[in-house]
Amino acid sequence: AENHMKPALIHPKPEKYDFTAADEIVAFAQKHKMKVRGHTLVWHNQTPDWFFQEADGSAASRETLLARLKSHIDTVLSRYKGKVYCWDVVNEAVADSGDEPMRDSKWLRQVGPDFLAKAFEFAHAADPDAILFYNDYNECNEPKRTHIYNLVRDLRAHGVPVHGIGMQGHWGLEGPSADEIRKTIETYASLGVMVQITELDISVYAWGDKRTDLRRPTPEQLERQAQRYGEIFAIFREYKDVITGVTLWGAADDLTWKDNFPVPGRKDWPLLFDEQQQPKLAFWRILP
Ligand code: GLA
Repeated sequence: AENHMKPALIHPKPEKYDFTAADEIVAFAQKHKMKVRGHTLVWHNQTPDWFFQEADGSAASRETLLARLKSHIDTVLSRYKGKVYCWDVVNEAVADSGDEPMRDSKWLRQVGPDFLAKAFEFAHAADPDAILFYNDYNECNEPKRTHIYNLVRDLRAHGVPVHGIGMQGHWGLEGPSADEIRKTIETYASLGVMVQITELDISVYAWGDKRTDLRRPTPEQLERQAQRYGEIFAIFREYKDVITGVTLWGAADDLTWKDNFPVPGRKDWPLLFDEQQQPKLAFWRILP
């Protein structure tokens, strides 16, 4: 559902939900017998400020924040019960580097580290059939891979209903390596959870390539990208017993967040379909 189920869009004000776009996506999916991944309930980004504030503007207490979280999760999950089969319950709670595993956030500061357990428990109570994910990026890097592993291991050891780990998969032409991807999938699968690739896209630019003048991708870029997609999907097939889904972030190259990341305003072509919605080399390369 890309951005359309994030708190900022679906719950802009305390008393106001806006389900317009999310409902359209879900109705389209129902009509075409497609599955929908829900994204996301707890995140440090794209969550409105009012969530974290009392009426006088001071920081909301733990009780206020947990009550809001429960009500938000109840409302959203009840609406899509039986229609959204899984949820990224918590997104990006682990730090990118350093010894401290948790990312600093208002959730962590104002609720405490059990905000994750609470979110998963609220979600499970609201829709016991939904498959619940912890989702993050740079999941192939150490120490982040291990921090995510430890987090999910500890939550599950305390009976918290975490059913899967989402690897976003905003990957590049050069990395992560095939070995690192395999190792990450195996590490997470060893917890007994399912693994999904949740936001895959692969820039046509190598990391050091700062060109900003291309109007269309070069044949070399498209070929390298196709090789990379082919390599990655071959790995996914090796692990088809644990990988239960692969989702891309975006449908086609006409609309992608990579146009503004990591180089603002530079057109990129990271997906399987081109700007005219036609299959690219990479699309043909991922077929079995
Ligand atoms: C992240 C988030 C997504 C989305 C993408 C691309 O990794 O999980 O919600 O914002 O980046 O912008």
